Amino acid sequence: MTVESVQPETSVDPVELREPPLAGGAVPVFGHGLQLVRDPLDFMSSLRAHGDIVRLRLGPKTVYAVTTPDLTGALALSPDFKIDGPVWESLEGLLGKEGVATANGPLHRRQRRTMQPAFRMDAIPNYGPIMEEEAHALTERWRPGTPIDCTSESFRVAVRMAARCLLRGDFMDERAERLSTDLATVFRGMYRRMVVPLGPLYKLPFPANREFNRALADLHLLVDEIVAERRASGQKPDDLLTALLEAKDDNGEPIGEQEIHDQVVAIITPGAETIASTIMWLLQALAEHPEHAEKVRAEVESVTGGRPVGFEHVRSLRHTNNVILEAIRLRPAVWILTRRAITDTALGEYRIPAGADIIYSPYAIQRDARSYDRHLDFDPDRWLPERAKEVPKYAMSPFSVGNRKCPSDHFSMAQLSLITAAITAKYRFEPADDSDDSVRVGITLRPENLRLRPLPW
Ligand code: HEM
Repeated sequence: MTVESVQPETSVDPVELREPPLAGGAVPVFGHGLQLVRDPLDFMSSLRAHGDIVRLRLGPKTVYAVTTPDLTGALALSPDFKIDGPVWESLEGLLGKEGVATANGPLHRRQRRTMQPAFRMDAIPNYGPIMEEEAHALTERWRPGTPIDCTSESFRVAVRMAARCLLRGDFMDERAERLSTDLATVFRGMYRRMVVPLGPLYKLPFPANREFNRALADLHLLVDEIVAERRASGQKPDDLLTALLEAKDDNGEPIGEQEIHDQVVAIITPGAETIASTIMWLLQALAEHPEHAEKVRAEVESVTGGRPVGFEHVRSLRHTNNVILEAIRLRPAVWILTRRAITDTALGEYRIPAGADIIYSPYAIQRDARSYDRHLDFDPDRWLPERAKEVPKYAMSPFSVGNRKCPSDHFSMAQLSLITAAITAKYRFEPADDSDDSVRVGITLRPENLRLRPLPW
């Protein structure tokens, strides 16, 4: 699908364009804000009943919510929208202004060109040995019958895999722990600052603010250390950090220190939180659906012949892959996405004014009964080729599409397959007494406090 191919949908004669309807349920002053804050997942899922695109009132602001798969696809592919808006401004303030996740236009295109080779399909096998090592090390840390804290375990393996694969170096043990702890604190604080933007209050010396500032400062310090050490080593392994250090701007000049720093931050931060949340949901799904855990175990055994699972097995692990897809469908780590209209434009038959903020929810799209049979059931077999072709286009785009599409889709799926296969080959899971798998909404979705007991088969 190219940008051009969606033009017919958006090139409706301007006189025929309509203003999207106002979603029901707005109250004076707050508009839909309270509903969005109180139960964002339910609220976003309810909007399709009000229209394909609806207007929301969030205090004094109007925000447009897109609710159908085809229009979310058209939005993501259209050049008339960019990454911007309050969420991104607060992200930039904290994580840096020159990273790929928040840049637009030529800077964004150049940055994508620099990082893309590290994520290309043919680059992924180079990460195989590290991924294998980390996936098996994870299971070796666990003791049969002793509950594991799935949040810290998932963060740990996610950070270690991303950092070791993309930034190489043998510095990772102590630093991976620091990175995991810092990122967990930073993400919690960032979400609070986005949802409840109390500006100056976050500068007061409350313990939560101090903890957030300390973690953010340490994250930036860590990145500086990693870059400085690589420079001092004089080594140039074939990795993303070397690509960033050697990158040139459009005038052929080396890119600045700040951009290198912000790029490392912009790659490591989404990489850790998204994979960690997905691993938590996978563990939860394996505990809740022992029949699928058993099927994964049997598949891994038949593919590996009982040997430790390796990168070379990943492509043959079909059911494992379908379990991962189904976990991602029901609990997409990235549950909300935003854009801003660059110009007066159209989406479907609706008029969107320049400067409009748009939101949509992969969570709502991926759970919609109009796209999925028995939409709330955990049914990995819906991804068997003959059934998957019935899923409407863009009804399952957890990595998004278009120029902002996650660069890491293949990298992520390879990591998730290896981890799922390695842990399931060894263990089945039962919830510990104090486990709480209710959904915690933050920048990503994850279980509130998942604690599972690994048990031998
Ligand atoms: C962007 C999802 C893992 C790095 C995105 C976007 C989505 C996404 C939906 C698009 C955001 C938008 O349209 O505004 C996911 C999911 C993951 C995952 C579901 C895992 C299950 C990773 C990993 C990395 C990564 C492991 C890096 C190691 C990035 C970066 C961007 C991005 C740098 C920004 C791209 C740009 O703006 O051009 N991701 N991601 N992601 N992701 Fe991922």
